[in-house]
Amino acid sequence: MSDVSMVVNGRKVTGNVEDRTLLVQYLRENLGLTGTHVGCDTSQCGACVVHLDGKAIKSCSILAVQASGSEVTTIEGLAPDADLHPMQAAFKEHHGLQCGFCTPGMIMTAVDMVRRHPGGLDEKTVRNDLEGNICRCTGYHNIVKSVLAGAEAMSGKTETKAA
Ligand code: FES
Ligand code: FES
Repeated sequence: MSDVSMVVNGRKVTGNVEDRTLLVQYLRENLGLTGTHVGCDTSQCGACVVHLDGKAIKSCSILAVQASGSEVTTIEGLAPDADLHPMQAAFKEHHGLQCGFCTPGMIMTAVDMVRRHPGGLDEKTVRNDLEGNICRCTGYHNIVKSVLAGAEAMSGKTETKAA
């Protein structure tokens, strides 16, 4: 067992976990943050993506103890001061989801994508950078549209309706 201490969605949390506990397990089972999903056991689907110190990572691919001392943001903490983050609003407006299982990971990846491409995004870049996120429902077309619209909204160029 090991002690862990990290800031999750702006709140300091501490605990004692088995050394083998994955970050995604810690978030879901210890902290009850079930918006982060588990869709595979091969680190391929991206349903578990969260931000670790501001960068998107697959939370099934690191141990909770490895995240100790870091800041973690999950989908629940993405828009602390609003109902929806602009990227969430864009997914809603552009029908970027069907069953919704992949959506938290898609959105966390998309927000990090915007951060990594300060010059802006195009369709090819979005499709390329979504390689680590699998969706079984949508065919990706509306996800790409949503990411592009969300990126515009985040840059302040357009407004995306939240309702
Ligand atoms: S659950 Fe992490 S990549 Fe699938
Ligand atoms: S919306 Fe169902 S898996 Fe993507």
